[in-house]
Amino acid sequence: MENIDFSKHKTLVELGPGTGVFTHSILSKMPKDSVLFIFELHEPFYHKLKHELKHDQRAVVIHDSAENMLHHLNQAGYSCANVVLSSLPLANFNITLREQIVQEVHTCLCENGIYVQFQYSLKTKKMIQRYFEKTKITFTSRNLPPAFVYTCKKNGLA
Ligand SMILES: C[S@@+](CC[C@H](N)C(=O)[O-])C[C@H]1O[C@@H](n2cnc3c(N)ncnc32)[C@H](O)[C@@H]1O
Repeated sequence: MENIDFSKHKTLVELGPGTGVFTHSILSKMPKDSVLFIFELHEPFYHKLKHELKHDQRAVVIHDSAENMLHHLNQAGYSCANVVLSSLPLANFNITLREQIVQEVHTCLCENGIYVQFQYSLKTKKMIQRYFEKTKITFTSRNLPPAFVYTCKKNGLA
């Protein structure tokens, strides 16, 4: 999250939060007037997060797939997001879904918006770079298993 300026980036999206480890960390950094749209497809995880975050006005927990992001943002009155953080296992998805999701992320981001994608391999590097010309890839050994973090910026340098 080091490239995110939480004082300026007020509309955030998290894709595939799972048990919510990142979700709670993201929320701990967000000011009161920010919003976090959280997309989780697996029903038990969705209900877990919905329950845990029921008193947090900033959290909008959505039981739908990541490729429907724009629809939900628009429905809530937002035209774009400043940041999309994703733990989706893109490399395990079929090519069509993978492509749809990254395209949707690109469409949903505001100008200069930031896309952070967590991955266990470099398999999706070329595809992500087709949408985000400037992509910075770092490696973290602090995660188990260690992982790559792609940080991309719409229309600019990551
Ligand atoms: C690798 S796990 C995330 C792990 C999480 N960071 C944690 O620490 O618990 C990926 C999550 O993405 C969710 N997921 C898979 N496909 C999805 C999709 N198309 N839209 C939204 N969530 C999806 C899965 O249900 C799973 O919870």
